[in-house]
Amino acid sequence: MSALGGSTVVGVVGAGAMGSGIAQVALSRGHEVVLADALPGATDRARAALEKGLRRDAEKGRMTSGDADAALGRLRLVAPDEGVAPFASCGLVIEAIVERLDVKQATFRTIEEVVGDDCVLASNTSSLSIASLGAACRRPERVLGVHFFNPAPVLPLVEIVAGVRTDPAVVASARALVDGWGKATVLAADTPGFIVNRVARPFYGEALRMLEEGVADVATIDWAMKTVGGFRMGPFELMDFIGHDVNYLVTESVWTAMYFDPRYRPSLTQKRLLEAGWLGRKAGRGFYDYATGATAPEPHRDETLGTVIFRRTLAMLVNEAADALHLRVASAADLELAMTKGVNYPKGLLAWGNEIGLGKLLEHLEALQFETGEDRYRPSPLLRRMVRNDDRFAV
Ligand code: NAI
Repeated sequence: MSALGGSTVVGVVGAGAMGSGIAQVALSRGHEVVLADALPGATDRARAALEKGLRRDAEKGRMTSGDADAALGRLRLVAPDEGVAPFASCGLVIEAIVERLDVKQATFRTIEEVVGDDCVLASNTSSLSIASLGAACRRPERVLGVHFFNPAPVLPLVEIVAGVRTDPAVVASARALVDGWGKATVLAADTPGFIVNRVARPFYGEALRMLEEGVADVATIDWAMKTVGGFRMGPFELMDFIGHDVNYLVTESVWTAMYFDPRYRPSLTQKRLLEAGWLGRKAGRGFYDYATGATAPEPHRDETLGTVIFRRTLAMLVNEAADALHLRVASAADLELAMTKGVNYPKGLLAWGNEIGLGKLLEHLEALQFETGEDRYRPSPLLRRMVRNDDRFAV
């Protein structure tokens, strides 16, 4: 176990879905963990959840039950009225509280008052800029993004994000630490959605668009993406699973932060679902009906139509990955790793683009752009250049 800031104690602020998962990861890698939450009872619920997770790991042989007990013994819960003093001994503090800039900035400011100068401050934010979080701190060079995926103990990907003022040495040591936890880390630029939440947008957006255009129904689009595309879940099933409140808001936040680039424009169909309270699985109803006894709609198992659907989404996904590479959001290798480890895509998008043929994908995008007259389908300059040079992505 490597140390940060001269201490191996990890602080986690926010004991919700992400904070408890992150605490579990750090505990199972041998750290002492200080876990706090502003809401009375939240840390007790988190303890129960991570205890369940650690016991399950022990049952599955991923650790001994003695190790699970020892991990729980290293957990220190902080009550809301204790303040931040218990974080004084931390070498790293990861914040996983509510996604609001002012609240996160205030939290970092308070924590900075008690921790040592070498303590690294990390945010698990999905959509806020690391630059803006760092700017609130006395020492912005120690602030970075360490973005886990849900559930944190299960999903291997972690995006590491440096803000304008982050010290590269802090990025390197935080990355080494998280790598040591057995996670797959990738470096992402401090841009909206980082890698995964940006590059994955067309998976949902193009499916919604095809539904709106009447290309096919929900069940057929899901069937096509799974059977022809090889994705584990169809886009509508996945949106229902994530919840339309969460999924729609991520899209809206990326779109807004990208100065309303039409490529990321949210769907009214999804917004109406959200407004109607059909939030997906958790509400019992989303695109599908989850009531007991409800019959699942049958897809039209038409290979030709399925291929049209899959190719259109893939063209948009590869274009998005190419543009992220073009704008240096991440390296080609990290883009591939992010989409296969973070969202379980069957192949890296750049490699997939090579396989299908970049020329074919470009033609497809140009045809969509011509037919719709929309900037949404504009090909990335990198894709154009590669086709012109008869090049392939180096992956
Ligand atoms: P959550 O709502 O499950 O948990 C947030 C916790 O923070 C709550 O227990 C709340 O009481 C506590 N909290 C709020 N303000 C606080 C404060 N000022 N001080 C201390 N505790 C406070 O939320 P979740 O899903 O765990 O998300 C946390 C962060 O992680 C957010 O920034 C979110 O964008 C990010 N994230 C969420 C993912 C997800 O799939 N849920 C995935 C990756 C990142």
